[in-house]
Amino acid sequence: MSATTTLSAAAASATTGHAQWSSRMGFILAATGSAVGLGNIWKFPYMVGQSGGAAFVLVYLACISLIGVPILVSEWMIGRRGQKNPVNTMAQLARAHGHHRNWALVGAIGVLGAFLILSFYSVIGGWALAYMGDAASGSFSGLDKAAIGAAFDNFLARPGDLLTWHTVFMLLTVGVVAMGVSAGLERGSKLMMPALGLILVVLVGYGATTGSFGEAAAYMFNPDWSKLDGKVVMAALGHAFFTLSLGMGIMMAYGSYLGEDVNLLRAARTVVVMDTGFALCAGMAIFPIVFANGLDPAAGPGLVFVTLPLAFGSMSGGLVLGTLFFLLLTFAALTSSISLLEPVVELLEERTPLNRIGATVVAGTTIWALGIAALLSFNLWADVKLAGLNIFDLLDHVTSKFMLPVAGLGAIVFAAWKLEQRSVQRELGLGVGGFRLWTLLARYVAPLGVLFVFWNNL
Ligand code: PHE
Repeated sequence: MSATTTLSAAAASATTGHAQWSSRMGFILAATGSAVGLGNIWKFPYMVGQSGGAAFVLVYLACISLIGVPILVSEWMIGRRGQKNPVNTMAQLARAHGHHRNWALVGAIGVLGAFLILSFYSVIGGWALAYMGDAASGSFSGLDKAAIGAAFDNFLARPGDLLTWHTVFMLLTVGVVAMGVSAGLERGSKLMMPALGLILVVLVGYGATTGSFGEAAAYMFNPDWSKLDGKVVMAALGHAFFTLSLGMGIMMAYGSYLGEDVNLLRAARTVVVMDTGFALCAGMAIFPIVFANGLDPAAGPGLVFVTLPLAFGSMSGGLVLGTLFFLLLTFAALTSSISLLEPVVELLEERTPLNRIGATVVAGTTIWALGIAALLSFNLWADVKLAGLNIFDLLDHVTSKFMLPVAGLGAIVFAAWKLEQRSVQRELGLGVGGFRLWTLLARYVAPLGVLFVFWNNL
C-alpha cells in the first residue's frame, strides 16, 4: 500500500475522529452481511431454477466477477480515500482531482437510494419476524394450500399488524446502528453471520435427509442452455448488482471506516464467494423441502411466504425447521437493513450537529414513517397509484431501476477515469498485467454492462 494514501487516510481519521472497523474480519463480515439478504435466500434460488440451472449460475458468476467486483472495489476505494460520508467523500475527491463538484451527486443519489430502499425493506423484514412467530407457535400446522395463501393475504390486508412488525424491525435496526460502527454494525455482524451460516447448514443437512436432495440439486444445477437469452443475462446482471449492495452508498460508507492494511481485491473475493455460497446453499435448503412435499419450485415471490409454510405445516419437525428458516430470513434482512441505515446516519452525523444516537433516531424515524406509506399499499392505499404502481412498487422501481445503476455507474466511472491511476494501481497492489485487466474491466466492461441494464430498464 502506498505511503501517501496511508498517511492521508491516517491524517483524515486523526483529524475527524472518524470511526474505523476494529478488524479486517469485522469489516468483511459486515460487508457480507449487507450482501447476503432477501435477494440470496428468496430470489436467487428461484431465479436459478427458472432460468437454466447451472447455465444461469455461470452467467451470474461472470457478471459478478466482470462487473460486480470492479464496482464493489471502486466504492470501497473511494470511501477509504475520502474517509467521510458518500456525499462529502465524492465532493472532496472531486475537488482534490480538479473535477466538477457535481460528482457529489453520485454520493447523494446513493444515500437517497439507501434511505428509500430501507423504508420498504423494513416492511418485508417485518414479515420475516411475523412469520417466525407464526412458525414457532405452530400456526401453519395442518393448513392446506388455500388456507396458507389466504393467511398471507389476510396478513397483508391488516395495516395494524404490518405496522407493528415494521416498527419492531426498524427498532432492531436502529438499535444496532445507534451503537456505532464497531460496537454496533461490526459486533452485530459477528454475531449474526455465524448464526446465519449455522442455520443454513442445519437446513441443508435436513434437506439431505428428505430424499429429494438429488432432485433439488438437478433443478438448481443441471445446465439448460436453451433458457439462456438476453432477458436471463439481464436478470443475472441486475441481480449481481443488487446482491452486492452496490450503488447505495453502503460500500462507500463501509470503505470510509477502512484502514490501509486491507487488500480490497482480496476482500472483494471473500465477500463474493461467501455471498454466492449463501445463495447456493439457500437453494439447497429450500428446494429439497419443496420437492419432498410435492410443491411448486417456480412459485416465484410466493415461494418463501406461502410454499414453504405449507411444507413446514405438514412435515414432522416443521415447527423447529420453520422457526429456524424464518430466523435465518430475519437475520439476513437485519444485517442488510443496518447497512442501509449506515450511510444515511454517517451523512447526518457529519453534516448536522446531531451525534450518533441522535442521527440514528432521526434517520430511523423518518424512514419508518415512509415505510408506513409503503405498507399501506397492501391494504388501505392499494389504489393510490402513480404510473400504474402503488407506493411500495414505486419505491422499489425507482431505486432499483434508476438510482442504483446511476450511482454505481458514477462510482466506477469516477474511480476508473477521474482518479489518478498510478495511485489506484498501487492501492490495488497490481502488477502491469493485472492492472491492464483491471483497467479494461473498470473503464469499459463494467460501465457498459451497467449502461446496458439501465437502458434495458428504460
Ligand atoms: N444485498 C441484499 C440482498 O441480496 C439486498 C440489499 C439491497 C441490501 C440493498 C442492502 C441494500 O438481498
